[in-house]
Amino acid sequence: MTVESAEKLLAPVLSAFWDDPRSWTLDTYRRHDGYQGLAKALAMPQDDVIAYVKDSGLRGRGGAGFPTGMKWQFIPQGDGKPHYLVVNADESEPGTCKDIPLLFANPHSLIEGMIIACYAIRSHHAFIYLRGETVPVLRRLHEAVREAYAAGYLGSNILGSGFDLDLTVHAGAGAYICGEETALLDSLEGRRGQPRLRPPFPAVEGLYACPTVVNNVESIASVPAIMLRGKEWFRSMGSEKSPGFTLYSLSGHVARPGQYEAPLGITLRQLLEMGGGMRPGHRLKFWTPGGSSTPMFTEEHLDVPLDYEGVGAAGSMLGTKALQCFDETTCVVRAVTRWTEFYAHESCGKCTPCREGTYWLVQLLRDIEAGKGSPGDLDKLNDIADNINGKSFCALGDGAAAPIFSSLKYFRAEYEEHIERKGCPFDPARSTAWADKYRTEAHA
Ligand SMILES: Cc1cc2nc3c(=O)[nH]c(=O)nc-3n(C[C@H](O)[C@H](O)[C@H](O)COP(=O)(O)O)c2cc1C
Ligand code: SF4
Repeated sequence: MTVESAEKLLAPVLSAFWDDPRSWTLDTYRRHDGYQGLAKALAMPQDDVIAYVKDSGLRGRGGAGFPTGMKWQFIPQGDGKPHYLVVNADESEPGTCKDIPLLFANPHSLIEGMIIACYAIRSHHAFIYLRGETVPVLRRLHEAVREAYAAGYLGSNILGSGFDLDLTVHAGAGAYICGEETALLDSLEGRRGQPRLRPPFPAVEGLYACPTVVNNVESIASVPAIMLRGKEWFRSMGSEKSPGFTLYSLSGHVARPGQYEAPLGITLRQLLEMGGGMRPGHRLKFWTPGGSSTPMFTEEHLDVPLDYEGVGAAGSMLGTKALQCFDETTCVVRAVTRWTEFYAHESCGKCTPCREGTYWLVQLLRDIEAGKGSPGDLDKLNDIADNINGKSFCALGDGAAAPIFSSLKYFRAEYEEHIERKGCPFDPARSTAWADKYRTEAHA
């Protein structure tokens, strides 16, 4: 396939005008049909908006792929309590980098989606919980919210509909765990960010113990286009169970990394073709389909359809569609050690399997990487990961175990090399005949 024919597979919607000068302003957004979907939604009964989003088949883009319309439907109506929408913009997973660029280039798509969602679930106060380190995005978001208030899209009696909505932007303090939706709610309430026991689920007792929808940035930002162009248009892309377009973030050792917006079900082979392939002279060794917490894939998975079912059937998860690609110069032990150090650092400490397990994984991996491992270490790694996976209080633990299991599955021999040869074959300081041979063979 040529690059041109591959590019025909793209479906830029959220990213359609990121190249426009001042793409983030209200004027630019309006020139691209901005706030037209809202006008359409406000003319519909609220329950019909929920049903419309449900019928579109939109699934949450925060990782789990939960149907968005169904989540909205869980909010009890007529309960006399305030309802809240909280947008999860904490984006901190290694490799995941779609929401922050989206907010930077096109913040009004999120704001419009939030107004539609709040109208549907009868919420009059919405929050954006933003990763705190991204100060330029925070400023841009504040400015976009100010513009939306000034234009009558936020505040009282929005577009003469009688619907009122206030929107608060909150900057977190840079903790990965605060992306977990219940830890996020605790943090937003001013507490230490640690996951809550469920049930009760946020739809029943969320923010301030009131019914709350927590959605990812991209999920909500996709709603205006669905309202405007129609659920059939949305369903014309992707598959029956994974319809629509989405942002794929191509990163790592690729010639042209970046955001590639395409229908669900595209393959890494097709995306790499558009991205100029791996960097010249190198080949793909391993990659993640959805960030570091999704089991890694290898070259043999280049043609796996990147949708929820396709990636699941191949033994991983679509997650956040963060396609980190590593070439043959990368030591898998080193990569997994770095990721595991991240999980150990970000573990909130609430439950023992994750708090203790991630610590011990790091000790073992550091030893193996440094050539101080012993033959029993690989079984120990597997054992500890097994004691974290499915036995931790939240999904951070499962995410920490995923790179261990998958790297041992595909690259056990590389771990064994480190142990038997007492060192890393990729360490440039080692130019023994063995290390040279290993690197040459890996490159072949
Ligand atoms: C440790 C951890 C970190 C997470 N970080 C994020 C995040 O940064 N952004 C996000 O949208 N979801 C994140 N999630 C998933 C959320 O808990 C939640 O499922 C998601 O916000 C729901 O949105 P969606 O239904 O629109 O996908 C994280 C989950 C875990 C366990
Ligand atoms: S799994 Fe880890 S991050 Fe999640 S509650 Fe337990 S200690 Fe905290």
